[in-house]
Amino acid sequence: MQATARARSNIALVKYWGKRDAALNLPAVGSISITLDQLWSDTHVQFDEALTKDDLLLDGHRQEQQSMRVTACLDILRELAGTKLRARIESANNFPTAAGLASSASGFAALVAAADAALDLQLGPRELSIIARRGSGSAARSIFGGFVEMHVGVERDGTDSYAEPLLDRQDWPLHVLVAITARGRKEISSGSGMTQSASTSPYFEAWVKTHPADLDAARQAIFARDFDHLADVSEQSCFKMHAAAIATDPPLLYWNGVTVDCIHAVRALRRRGVPVFFTNDAGPQIKAICEASAVNEVQAVLADIPGVLEVLQTGLGPGVEIR
Ligand code: DP6
Repeated sequence: MQATARARSNIALVKYWGKRDAALNLPAVGSISITLDQLWSDTHVQFDEALTKDDLLLDGHRQEQQSMRVTACLDILRELAGTKLRARIESANNFPTAAGLASSASGFAALVAAADAALDLQLGPRELSIIARRGSGSAARSIFGGFVEMHVGVERDGTDSYAEPLLDRQDWPLHVLVAITARGRKEISSGSGMTQSASTSPYFEAWVKTHPADLDAARQAIFARDFDHLADVSEQSCFKMHAAAIATDPPLLYWNGVTVDCIHAVRALRRRGVPVFFTNDAGPQIKAICEASAVNEVQAVLADIPGVLEVLQTGLGPGVEIR
């Protein structure tokens, strides 16, 4: 009754920000993401009758705080398998969690897939996506590789709120460079940030209202491999999310000065005809998405910005794998 899974991290081009149901972790908006090849979580799950509660080790450290969400995901799988057995979970990221890169997406996707295999449930990827969503909204997308769309859904039980693949990574092999501008954990998690935005930001309503058009535009751009259109809609979605966040009370300003320098540098490159655009999440790191031909130039420009500590490089990755 044990298994190991590897799931990759992902970054949203059209962002998820806001929940319509906190208990089921249902998003207020859909989202579109790309799965990253070189940033992953390896998660081993072992069900053991000697345990009285689930036991989670993240990068060798016992985690008390996250284990509520882990147990919530495992409870769904336990019910399907008709077992009450508790599990020992050992999860390791190959990228520094303290760098402020989302590890909950890859972590929960790997957890759900490993537990499914350990219990021999053989659920399909859509069911895994729905269960991973309960752990973290972005984790629903990390079940799949390449370009992925998360559906907002309308059902109150969340059965139509899942991710599905849009385009294989081989069909448009974009690259991503991650500029690390600060180390250390962020102060306000995405989950609580978006909840505060929804209740206090005067721009939250406009964010939700204008969001479906961004999803349509991004989907069309991906199907047409239209880099410029994908760049425009992605940067706008990112700016809109941050506008809603900044106008939250108290404000959520996730950027430092170097973050803003990176945004200007990426936009200046694109004005010069280099196929690159930026996105950024609930933290200070900048992700530059580019065509293969631009990787070296983008890497050099970002690495040269004072205050950029490190630049990670990756292509697009596959969906979750049992190892
Ligand atoms: C800004 O998936 O971390 O990265 O569902 O509360 O776990 P929870 O939130 P999470 O939020 C990610 C928000 C984002 C944008 C995105 O990835 O779509």
